[in-house]
Amino acid sequence: MSKKNSSAWQALTAHRQHIADVTISEMFAADNDRFNKFSLRHHDLLLDYSKQQVTKDTVQLLCALAEESNLQQAIRDLFNGAIVNQTEQRPALHMELRNSETNRSEIATVLVQMAEFVSKMQSSDYTDVIVLGIGGSDLGPRLVCEALAPYKISSLNIHFVANVDSDTLTPLLKSLDYNTTACIINSKTFTTIETLANAAIVKTWLDSNATSSIWAVTAHVKNATAFGVKPEHIFAFWDWVGGRYSVWSAVGLPIALSLGIDNFRRVLAGAHAMDQHFYATELSKNIPVMQALIGIWNINFLNYNTLAIQPYADGLQLLPAYLQQLEMESNGKAAENSGGFVDYQTAPVIWGGVGCNGQHAYMQMLHQGTQIVPVDFLVARRSCNEPQELQQLLIASCLGQSQALMTGRKDPLYYKVCPGNRPSTTIMFDVITPEIIGTLIAMYEHKVFVQGTIWQIQPFDQWGVQLGKDLITDVLGLLRGGELNQVDNSTAGLVRYALTR
Ligand code: F6P
Repeated sequence: MSKKNSSAWQALTAHRQHIADVTISEMFAADNDRFNKFSLRHHDLLLDYSKQQVTKDTVQLLCALAEESNLQQAIRDLFNGAIVNQTEQRPALHMELRNSETNRSEIATVLVQMAEFVSKMQSSDYTDVIVLGIGGSDLGPRLVCEALAPYKISSLNIHFVANVDSDTLTPLLKSLDYNTTACIINSKTFTTIETLANAAIVKTWLDSNATSSIWAVTAHVKNATAFGVKPEHIFAFWDWVGGRYSVWSAVGLPIALSLGIDNFRRVLAGAHAMDQHFYATELSKNIPVMQALIGIWNINFLNYNTLAIQPYADGLQLLPAYLQQLEMESNGKAAENSGGFVDYQTAPVIWGGVGCNGQHAYMQMLHQGTQIVPVDFLVARRSCNEPQELQQLLIASCLGQSQALMTGRKDPLYYKVCPGNRPSTTIMFDVITPEIIGTLIAMYEHKVFVQGTIWQIQPFDQWGVQLGKDLITDVLGLLRGGELNQVDNSTAGLVRYALTR
């Protein structure tokens, strides 16, 4: 039976008809305490979802949908290490990585190994570290290092290289000294073609220093030793950590190198606090749950199929890209857990950019376009650096944009009219800290899990990327002289053109 036929889903469909003509502004007019009723707190993080097109009945019906989906049991299963990743027969225990009281001793062992490595590197002659990795082996450490730049304590220069682009790698290598440069190869499988292609070039460039200056972070140690990484230079993690959930593992080593192990532990602590909130809080007061349910309301009942992420902080410019992988690689699926395919929308298209820049790029469309795009706005009360008046302008911009999306503006000139009634959520916190970064990432991880549970899809595998990986290898063969008459006419034509000199 399709989830759409469930009684909770049917009730929401009926409710949608009932409130279709009630605007968000009218909801505020009807209740001058709406902000307090439709916002949640977790330490200094405030989640304001009062500018979403929901009433208390909507929230009640959405929570009923969550209960009908046995969400509370699913959360317990997740934390208890049940096989929640059915297609790969694995648990998903990234939360254990940030639980300082975990009984998984291997986690503490690797954290000690990381701390020792950081300490050794701080007192070494190394000046630069190249970090090779892509997807979850790049986005997490890169995002956190950027977001927490004000907390950098190391003199080491960290250079992230993800893509296979000589116009990035070659100039970088030319700018570095191979005698004072280390390399960390971040790859869960240690089979990713992009990472290994870059690693081969860097290994050659390191020349006689290669063996002593290359470290690896992987769940497949044999593949790393086969590449030539010394066993004592390998930081292990485990198959029960998904790639896009791995920033908390040794994949986060660049964070510890840049910020120090204590700040890395602070990131873990912020995430752990969100885990505890998520595990123990009732649905309607549960921040990741409410984010997930609001998303389901917008996607499955209001038919808004994209979500813009707009953080008002340059240090969070990578957050949209990070969440693209987290949300779209986790829930960009149609296969239904009991077999067959869903007949409703699942993951939204995640995109975005920093505010205020977005206001001078795509916000025109969000205010007057034909598509309604819900937005997650994020803003801090304070910046890490002075002067604070710039932060005041960021806050004014963030709040002004969300207000404009909601209220719109009438005008006698039709082309100046902004229709309004465009939903957004605002996430506000005091200042960017290691803890808040951990909290934000964990919050979105749990939101994704809740949506996957309700959509009855599998958030922890990624079979859809395999076809592309296989075809890359096939086309490489064609570019290296393979038979062109076996492929489609476009690929053959493009290969011929690519080989034209
Ligand atoms: O995009 C597919 C994927 O497997 C991601 O899930 C993963 O984060 C990325 O490729 C890199 O994989 P690895 O860490 O094994 O190199």
